[in-house]
Amino acid sequence: MTRNSAKSPAFPQALLRWYDAHARDLPWRVGPKARQAGARPDPYAVWLSEIMLQQTTVATVGPRYLDFLTRWPDVNAMAAAAQDDILGEWAGLGYYARARNLHKCAVTVASDHNGVFPDTEESLRALPGIGAYTAAAIAAIAFDRRAIVIDGNIERVVTRLYAIETPLPAAKPEIREKLEAIWPAKRSGDFAQALMDLGAGLCRPKAPMCLLCPISSHCAAFKAGTQEQLPVKAAKKAKPNRIGAVFALTNAKGEMLFERRPETGLLGGMLGLPGTDWKERPNGDIFNAAPADADWEKTGEATHTFTHFHLTLDVYAAPAPKGFRRARDQQWLDPHEARLPTVMKKAVGAAL
Ligand code: ADE
Repeated sequence: MTRNSAKSPAFPQALLRWYDAHARDLPWRVGPKARQAGARPDPYAVWLSEIMLQQTTVATVGPRYLDFLTRWPDVNAMAAAAQDDILGEWAGLGYYARARNLHKCAVTVASDHNGVFPDTEESLRALPGIGAYTAAAIAAIAFDRRAIVIDGNIERVVTRLYAIETPLPAAKPEIREKLEAIWPAKRSGDFAQALMDLGAGLCRPKAPMCLLCPISSHCAAFKAGTQEQLPVKAAKKAKPNRIGAVFALTNAKGEMLFERRPETGLLGGMLGLPGTDWKERPNGDIFNAAPADADWEKTGEATHTFTHFHLTLDVYAAPAPKGFRRARDQQWLDPHEARLPTVMKKAVGAAL
């Protein structure tokens, strides 16, 4: 073992010292100074931020997180909210199953835990919508439990520190082992956030700023000059293309006809334009999926990339025919006001 090995106990301390001086100021974070002075994070705030950050960048989440916190300042308030209001507030933040689980989790904490978040990784893991990463993050950040937190940024930092050349995701167990060996018992939450900040700032994917890095002297990749080649990633499968059609029916008031999507499946429970299923190969007459027999005119396309596929929607528009009556699960809404998922916003844009 060399003197500069990342196993050296000096390494976590050096990282924490850097965090003390350079921690990002984030709306959900109790920074190192306040923490030193005795402030403790609100577990509800930590949980909310971690769920929101699972799919969206820190920059996007910031203001949206504050909207959520203002509207539902604690877990009991969120538990008492209507699921629809939560889904509406979530619009544009990605997969809606998370928003539904957010509500379910709030209800569970309010009813089964007296409104108090449990404080161990294991008990957190049992709550709706909380996976291994999130349980560890909350246990560490909210409760200072020694829980090993591993997200994408942390994976990158660790593969570089130890020059791990196994491709991801096969390298995951090795990364966990390395972290197990160095994770400090004290200031666990700060340590997790220090690794996150290092990964988000200096130890970024391209052109890492090793000369400013507080732990470059412990970094095997830096020593070997291989930091830009790490982590190695297994080749990704190309995403398939799916296609579909949506129909924008408008009434004399300029409102558009929307319907709620089924609870399960993609964008479950969200509003959308009526339309076909999304398939790799279209089959059948798309107009069977139209909400009315009308003078449909193709006005454009909307494209969107989901985690597992690219989607192209043909967008058709028409005025509602005389005597048209909406179905029970349909509603007329001002298309500029409706809280829509991003792909449906794009489709409405192509219809107007
Ligand atoms: N990304 C996910 N969780 C985070 C956190 N607590 N701080 C900064 N970035 C994050």
